[in-house]
Amino acid sequence: GLVVADVTCSVGTELPHLAGRFGTVLGGDLDPSRLAMARHNMTVTGQDAGRVALVRADAVRPVFAPGAVDVVVADPARRTARGRIRDPKDLLPPLPDLLEAHRGSAVAVKCAPGIDYGEWEGQVDVVSVDGGVKEACLYTPELAAHERRAVVFRDGRRRVLTSDDPESEEVGRVGRYILDPDGAVVRAGLVRQYAAALGWWRVDPHIAYLSGDSLEDLSARGTGTEGAFLPGQRVFEVIEEVQLKKLRPALAALDCGRLEILVRGVDVDPDQLRRKMKLKGGRELTVVLTRIGDASVAVITEELHLRG
Ligand SMILES: C[S@@+](CC[C@H](N)C(=O)[O-])C[C@H]1O[C@@H](n2cnc3c(N)ncnc32)[C@H](O)[C@@H]1O
Repeated sequence: GLVVADVTCSVGTELPHLAGRFGTVLGGDLDPSRLAMARHNMTVTGQDAGRVALVRADAVRPVFAPGAVDVVVADPARRTARGRIRDPKDLLPPLPDLLEAHRGSAVAVKCAPGIDYGEWEGQVDVVSVDGGVKEACLYTPELAAHERRAVVFRDGRRRVLTSDDPESEEVGRVGRYILDPDGAVVRAGLVRQYAAALGWWRVDPHIAYLSGDSLEDLSARGTGTEGAFLPGQRVFEVIEEVQLKKLRPALAALDCGRLEILVRGVDVDPDQLRRKMKLKGGRELTVVLTRIGDASVAVITEELHLRG
């Protein structure tokens, strides 16, 4: 087996899994009360405690010699209570310090999903659960199999897309349907791979919406027994594409009473726009406001409720 050090183990949620999967685990944390809970948890979960050692230690001052562990995993605390963490230095312990302390080791770090990982040299996984992006996981090159990976969990199922999957460069008109890709796919920068998997296309090279003409593409393609469609994403049937200034009469003609406004790539305040529409009808619609080339377009749609 392998020796894994979980250097921010807290109450030890991940220790039994790591021990079960890899063999020997060293758990460390700065906080003695969390370590005490980890110790307790290891006894009640009935794991082979002999394969888990716990130690109070600062993750940035390794208590083991370089090479004594095969993999270092860390799940730093996300210090900022409000807002998105962008700067890796805002993690506790700060990511740069953690990496410096374990230089030369294979390291996997769970991070806030908003972290700026553009410069990261190894693999980046972006993980979503039931449509919400939960975390980014950074792997140093020793552990990297791909550059980027989107890992999508939905209803207990897991689907994966990687940067090594085929890509589509196709950009085209707004077709019969618009798809808003899972946030993990968008954040991992895998929209082109996802387009290729579905046989759909982008409506603009810089905008993360895909479009297609056939819903069968969503189930037909892909590998193995599962379709390429990652469940939990929103798909909209296009009713009409109008200029922004024609939106109000168009919505009135469609008897729209409730309007969801999705904005991507244009500078529009949805609430202000909704008030201006003075909706009186009964139908619930979604308008996708986006930029196609230099033009702002409003695509009036109705959401489809597909099963994943
Ligand atoms: C997000 S929690 C880890 C949760 C854990 N992976 C789990 O699943 O239960 C972050 C932990 O990092 C610990 N921590 C913060 N700074 C640390 C440091 N410099 N060295 C070691 N642990 C640290 C905190 O005490 C906290 O328990």
